[in-house]
Parts: sequence; C-alpha cells; structure tokens
Amino acid sequence: MERRKFIRNSLMTAGGVLLGSAVAYRFLHEEQPKEYPLPPTIENIHKGKGKNVLVLMSAGTRHGNTDRLTDAYIRGLVKKGHTVTKIYLGSMRMAGCRGCGACQRNGNRCVVQDDMQQLYPLFAQCDTLVMASPLYFWTITARLKAFVERLYAISKEDKYPEKETVLLMTAGDDKENTFDHAQSYFHIISSVLGGHEVGIYCAGGCTGCEKTARNINMKHLENAYRMGLDL
Ligand SMILES: Cc1cc2nc3c(=O)[nH]c(=O)nc-3n(C[C@H](O)[C@H](O)[C@H](O)COP(=O)(O)O)c2cc1C
Repeated sequence: MERRKFIRNSLMTAGGVLLGSAVAYRFLHEEQPKEYPLPPTIENIHKGKGKNVLVLMSAGTRHGNTDRLTDAYIRGLVKKGHTVTKIYLGSMRMAGCRGCGACQRNGNRCVVQDDMQQLYPLFAQCDTLVMASPLYFWTITARLKAFVERLYAISKEDKYPEKETVLLMTAGDDKENTFDHAQSYFHIISSVLGGHEVGIYCAGGCTGCEKTARNINMKHLENAYRMGLDL
C-alpha cells in the first residue's frame, strides 16, 4: 500500500516538473513570428520647437493600415515642427489596472512593474496624446484600453493631468455608425483629460488582415497628413 502511494506521488511529482519545465521553456523561447517581427517599442521621431506629442500606435503590426495612417499624421506633425515620440503599444508587455488601489496610497506609483512604467514619464511630459487604433469589435484595442486604465495610478482625487487628445482609427466597415462606440469612448477619455479634443480621423473601408496586403485608401493618408499640419 505504502509502496503504491510512493510510486503514485513520485509519478505525479515527475509529471508536474516536466509540465512546468515545458511551460518555462516555451515562455523563454517564444519566438516572434518571422513574417511580422515586432517593431521597437519607443521611437523618438523628431525634436522640434512646437508641442510635445506622444503617439500611441496600438495596432499589433507595422506598416498596417493604422500604422500607415499614424505615420501620415506624424509627417504632418514633423513638418509643422512638433516634437514627436511614437510608441508601438503592440510590442509592449502591459497589463490592465489591477484595481488594488496601492497607487492611491503610495504617492501615485503603480505597483505593476511592466512597460507602462516607461510610459508614465512620457505621458507626464507630453502636451498632446494621440490614440491610434484599429477598430476591434466596435471599439479601440485592448492594449490602448489597458494604457487608459493604468492612468488611474496618477490620478489625484479623481483628477487627471490636462492633455490635448487626438483619435486616429481604421476599420474594415465604412458605415455611418462604424466608429460610434470608439468615438464616444474617446470623448469620455478626452473630457477626463481636460476636454481638449484637437482631432479625430476615422478611416473606414480598409482591407483587413485576412488579406496578405492590407490596404488603406490614399485619400485617408492625405487627410491625416493635413490634420497633422493643423495641430
Ligand atoms: C480582432 C479584430 C476585430 C475587428 N473588429 C472590427 C470591427 O468591429 N469592425 C470593423 O469594421 N472592422 C473590424 N476589424 C478590421 C480592422 O479594424 C481593420 O482591418 C483595420 O484596418 C486593421 O488595422 P491594421 O492593419 O492596423 O491592423 C477587426 C479586425 C480584427 C483583427
């Protein structure tokens, strides 16, 4: 009896160790897909004399529709002489807010040690926050939503720093109400940040990731560029 128990326990322990090692091995050797390597996380695009603009590009792929729309907008910003920092949220490891409330007791420091820690100072320094996102299930990406949630850490008595806000979006659909949910969410976030919306551009009718070549109409890129010039 004792011997049977010993053998069973040994087998279970060995199984557990093997499973744990397999998970750890996979985690450590997780390869980036070769077709779409992740872009760098933070790019200092331009240093100018104008505003300090922080661009959060939340699509998971480089040179996709949202990235191209964002770059067109950035070209306008650069031409105008603004300082531009571009963040690839898709390359960052960032969790949503835990709701532990530690930030409110610890001098507005978030205890979650992930890539958001690099973004807090950039957000503090910026004049303008650009939120760029593909439309995912009628709203912004989970990555961008996680960024917004984590701003809770720096709130003081429910007050947030004032920032100008811009929304750039792409979607497959091109209906009258395609961007309604995303836009109404953006309006709320903008009002939390002081109510200084300075631009919304939503590009519908983009060819999505089901096709090898994504496609965004040139007219959207031209319009975004002009919007960048207007900031
Ligand atoms: C997970 C997922 C959800 C999507 N949800 C919608 C949607 O609700 N409405 C829509 O019109 N397009 C939707 N799309 C299409 C993308 O918004 C569209 O192809 C976008 O331009 C892709 O941007 P990207 O090339 O930057 O990734 C979805 C795509 C994915 C991958």
